[in-house]
Amino acid sequence: MEFSVRKYQLKDLHAIASLEAQCFEHPWSYDSFCMEYADPVKAYFIAEDKDGKLLGYGGYAHILDEAHIMNIAVAESARHQGVGSAIVDAIIKSAKDAGICAITLEVRDDNKNAIALYEKAGFEFSGLRPHYYGWDMPARIYWLRFE
Ligand SMILES: CC(C)(COP(=O)(O)OP(=O)(O)OC[C@H]1O[C@@H](n2cnc3c(N)ncnc32)[C@H](O)[C@@H]1OP(=O)(O)O)[C@@H](O)C(=O)NCCC(=O)NCCS
Repeated sequence: MEFSVRKYQLKDLHAIASLEAQCFEHPWSYDSFCMEYADPVKAYFIAEDKDGKLLGYGGYAHILDEAHIMNIAVAESARHQGVGSAIVDAIIKSAKDAGICAITLEVRDDNKNAIALYEKAGFEFSGLRPHYYGWDMPARIYWLRFE
């Protein structure tokens, strides 16, 4: 599948919020993404097909000299074709260019697809945070440290 990745723009936010609603049980609203967009420490990237249709998005917060991945999602019909990996690669490149030393994230302990995506990108498991996604669902914490 042909697709490209670029930094997000204001005009992308409705499509992002709509994809978020399809991908998560407790989705962020359009207003939340507007607040992300207005926040200078946040950087998001989108993947789109050759007709400009949104396939996926992901972003991070730049805090001190670290990046924290906020969220990443790919439309169900576009999964397992490298879109998620391309978004993670864009995040890693942007963080390196910004002089960031390390990237961290939390992922549900049962989210096999996301865990595989991050481990393939070189993120290392560094522990569990109990009850992060509700009483019975811990978060796995991952770090990717740059030299
Ligand atoms: C997690 C998520 C973003 C992954 O996106 P994706 O686009 O499917 O990711 P990729 O295609 O880059 O990689 C996924 C798999 O596809 C495989 N793949 C990559 N390119 C491929 C290609 N050209 N052909 C076939 N398979 C390919 C990868 O090897 C990987 O397989 P593996 O997990 O067995 O190693 C997606 O499943 C999703 O949106 N989930 C719902 C939201 C979510 O849980 N987000 C994470 C919150 S932390």
